[in-house]
Amino acid sequence: MSKPSSHPPMMRAVRTHAPGTPFVLEDVPWPDPGPGEVVVRVAACGVCHSDVHVLDGMPMPAPLPLTLGHEPAGTIEAVGEGVNDWAEGDRVAMHLGDGCGTCRACLSGHPMCCPKLGAVGLHFDGAYADAVKVPQSVMVRVPDEVSLAAAAVATDCVATPYHALKCRARMESGEKVVVIGVGGLGSMAIELARVLGAGQIVAVDTNPLALERAERLGATDVVLADRDPVAGIRAATTDGADIVLECVGSPDTVAQGVNSLVGGGRCVAVGVGIMPPRIDSPQALFALFEYSLLGTFASHKEDLEEVLRMEAEGAIDIEASISERYPLERAIEALDILHKGGGDVQRMVIEPGLDA
Ligand SMILES: NC(=O)c1ccc[n+]([C@@H]2O[C@H](COP(=O)([O-])OP(=O)(O)OC[C@H]3O[C@@H](n4cnc5c(N)ncnc54)[C@H](O)[C@@H]3O)[C@@H](O)[C@H]2O)c1
Ligand SMILES: [Zn+2]
Ligand SMILES: [Zn+2]
Repeated sequence: MSKPSSHPPMMRAVRTHAPGTPFVLEDVPWPDPGPGEVVVRVAACGVCHSDVHVLDGMPMPAPLPLTLGHEPAGTIEAVGEGVNDWAEGDRVAMHLGDGCGTCRACLSGHPMCCPKLGAVGLHFDGAYADAVKVPQSVMVRVPDEVSLAAAAVATDCVATPYHALKCRARMESGEKVVVIGVGGLGSMAIELARVLGAGQIVAVDTNPLALERAERLGATDVVLADRDPVAGIRAATTDGADIVLECVGSPDTVAQGVNSLVGGGRCVAVGVGIMPPRIDSPQALFALFEYSLLGTFASHKEDLEEVLRMEAEGAIDIEASISERYPLERAIEALDILHKGGGDVQRMVIEPGLDA
């Protein structure tokens, strides 16, 4: 049974009204949970570059305006009818979304490709807000040892590269892993590749500060992507990479990833871009060297549970990945910083409870 809650009638939310236009902080009604839904008071929401693409004109799959923010964690504030496994006060992280469970995509192990996918901050209002309403099916319990800010970052910035390495690239220990773009996701990819037993980890970025961070996190080699990153990667790996995680989202970096592979290598395009990828190499190379170019979208719920467990056990340090914390009033400023690029940003989080 839904229980009357004591929230104010309105809350603050950062919204997009149209792709390519500035985000707006505005007051919207405080959500109430419907049947099977839960309202979570947002403790933290990671700031992902995917939101920044909206400023560059990337269309959204939902009717606008829409509250952005898809890396949330918090405490349950209210539960709707039929929600029996969750209670007010529970500490939860929210997986990006859920498939229907019955379609071909869901049954073949690709729930994120379900035509009925409902994703927080993409298909319905997200968590750059005081509270967020989600279906109970996306909830994951946060271990006591893990802070809610770290749990927020885990939902996408950590679970996504984990899924890309484990499930898409099917990484084996000893393999040579290259990460192109060492921002939020790329930095965690380096830590994860180390924990998963990579034989070599090569970090590639245009920003020297990102490369310094990559070395601290476990990269064995770094390549400044100024002139010819492929030559740098080939020099570092001798014969090419088993796995490239492209974590930028530009046509050039996808091509660089493919051209850096060893025979049988896999390039995973983690980055989101609105431009068509351009691989200016003969198609025959895919035949002669059995290259794979793979897409990846977010993660499976089990991946999120696994990275939270890794954080609880101290195998990775998500907490240390949080480079800045901003109150909701300054969320647009944080998004603008990510849009501009540069600096020493790893992952910023919005914490609505912080004083402005
Ligand atoms: N596939 C998914 O499910 C998924 C999930 C989350 C994010 N993403 C996408 O992954 C990408 C990375 O997201 P993020 O939040 O980590 O971004 P970020 O801004 O934190 O990091 C991007 C990094 O790329 C570097 N970079 C920019 N241009 C480069 C170039 N030409 N060569 C090498 N490095 C370059 C930047 O210096 C920065 O360090 C974005 O495109 C985002 O939309 C995809
Ligand atoms: Zn994201
Ligand atoms: Zn489905």
